[in-house]
This record gives sequence, C-alpha cells and structure tokens, in this order.
Amino acid sequence: MSWIDIGSIEDIPLRGARVVKTKVGCVAVFRTSENEVFATSDRCPHKNGPLSEGIVHGQSVTCPLHNWVFDLNTGVAQGADEGQIDTYPAKVEAGRILLDGTLLMNRAA
Ligand code: FES
Repeated sequence: MSWIDIGSIEDIPLRGARVVKTKVGCVAVFRTSENEVFATSDRCPHKNGPLSEGIVHGQSVTCPLHNWVFDLNTGVAQGADEGQIDTYPAKVEAGRILLDGTLLMNRAA
C-alpha cells in the first residue's frame, strides 16, 4: 500500500472532520479527541447525511441529520439502526495524515 500525505492533523479540529475528494467519492477524515484519525465515506446510508458534519465522540460519529451512530473502526451503525459506511485505511505519522494512495488516485482536488 502506498500512503499519501493529505495534510497536517492540526488542520482538523479535535472531534472534527474534513472532506477529501477521491476516486471513490467524498471521504470524511475524522480526528478524535485522542488524536486518532479515521477515514470513512462521507455519506450516511440512511438519507445521505454529511457525516463529516456529524459529532465525533469516542471512536464513533453521529450523523447530523437523524442521529444514527457509526463505529469509525468498522463503519457499522450502532443500536437498532442497520447500515454500514465504507471505511478506509488512515494513519498519522509525525503529525501528518496519511491515506491509502490507491484510494486517492485521480483525486479531484
Ligand atoms: S441521513 Fe444519517 S441518520 Fe438520517
């Protein structure tokens, strides 16, 4: 796997997210309160809510539209809701966020 630097972890607020355009569509990159980074699809499987605008808590995100909660490790919806978001490899090295290069190939912007 080749890793591509998409920016500093400081570019994302704690418990925040930013969106990266990739060949698989918009990917939400989340930063947790523990400085962990997760990358998932930005679209909620319920009604396409923008998960990057959701609330990050622990290693989960709550969709801003109807409050479905997704585990950022597995992408699986929690509780009674049934659905799953795609998750992608992401890591932090020396303060830089790295995503899987094959995912970002043909990145739009
Ligand atoms: S669109 Fe995400 S919970 Fe409804």
